[in-house]
Amino acid sequence: MILVTGGAGFIGSNFVLDWVAETSEPVVNLDALTYAGNLRNLAALQGDARHVFVHGDICDRPLLDSLLSRYRPRAIVHFAAESHVDRSIHGPAAFVRTNVEGSFTLLEAARAHWSALPADEQGAFRFHHVSTDEVYGSLGPGDAAFTEDHPYQPNSPYSASKAASDHLVRAWHHTYGLPVLTTNCSNNYGPWHFPEKLIPLMIVNALAGKPLPVYGDGQNVRDWLYVKDHAAGIRAVLAAGRPGETYNIGGWNEKTNLEIVHTVCDLLDELRPDPAGPYRRLVTFVKDRPGHDRRYAIDARKIERELGWRPAETFETGIRKTVQWYLDHPDWVAEVQSGAYRQWLATQYAPGAGA
Ligand code: NAD
Ligand code: TYD
Repeated sequence: MILVTGGAGFIGSNFVLDWVAETSEPVVNLDALTYAGNLRNLAALQGDARHVFVHGDICDRPLLDSLLSRYRPRAIVHFAAESHVDRSIHGPAAFVRTNVEGSFTLLEAARAHWSALPADEQGAFRFHHVSTDEVYGSLGPGDAAFTEDHPYQPNSPYSASKAASDHLVRAWHHTYGLPVLTTNCSNNYGPWHFPEKLIPLMIVNALAGKPLPVYGDGQNVRDWLYVKDHAAGIRAVLAAGRPGETYNIGGWNEKTNLEIVHTVCDLLDELRPDPAGPYRRLVTFVKDRPGHDRRYAIDARKIERELGWRPAETFETGIRKTVQWYLDHPDWVAEVQSGAYRQWLATQYAPGAGA
């Protein structure tokens, strides 16, 4: 089986659902259920013995040791993190704790577990670290997209904490020989995305007739990838990536924020027209984010060349599916907005389930 951390978050839950659908291998899912963790995302797996949920913290070394010795996973896929740049600006401490100290604690537990494995299991073991393109910093308009060799130039507390974890992962390979894989991915979007991030926030605000806050001039560029393509990319790297290597994952979809917001508005005009008028009327330019990176773009040729992965969705197909998903799941949105989703553990899982 594999051990996933952060599998109740946006990308982690999409990955777990994809994993269970695409493979026969069970998954142990360790998640602290911060505000970003939502077990409702995994409701389809209730009662499915292939998914074991464990409520716990990656900073808890005794818990990690007991999970590793009990389940003996052949791989760890590490998603758990604080992930929102705006939150990192207001409260960086949690980012250093989980992203740096938590990753360190997980690496140390993994190293102890891996060192004690028989030689054949040692060779097959993988520690897959899920990271971001934001570690590379900001590109100018004419700059080439980020390759795996791009210098690290993180600019936000979030990206600095992720860069630190990438460096720890690299060092644990070079110093101790731990068979690590790192993927640096661009901005994801899709189902179960917490509505503090750009795309889901614009959808839920528009449907509520609220302003659509666009930071600065709206010309910052991000490279968008449908989350299920990211899950498939991670599976490809876990299956055949070379230990010690990093792989950039991206969708070849550079868009300005304003283009994104306009696309969401236009799709909603088509799918759920508002009698009050086109949704674009709600676009509101607001004060810029401090230190706001101007442009991210991923060169994803290495993963395509070596592992044959390419995104299945174009931006047009992925964003349409995403907007439709939010329209089809008003209960999920309402529970997230009211905070009721935080009761899901108590109501749906027995205390200490799986631990
Ligand atoms: P998320 O914030 O939606 O989910 C994070 C999950 O980690 C939550 O379920 C949370 O409860 C859990 N968690 C937080 N602290 C924990 C701790 N101390 N112990 C155990 N669990 C903890 O994040 P996401 O968007 O799903 O991102 C997942 C990973 O992918 C992160 O490492 C992030 O840096 C990376 N990433 C995200 C994007 C993106 O666009 N969202 C892009 C590239 C890489
Ligand atoms: P976000 O989803 O927070 O991801 P990241 O900062 O990790 O790229 O933001 C995506 C882009 O959208 C980023 O340039 C900031 C911008 N943005 C807005 O303009 N308005 C918003 O309300 C939010 C949340 C983000």
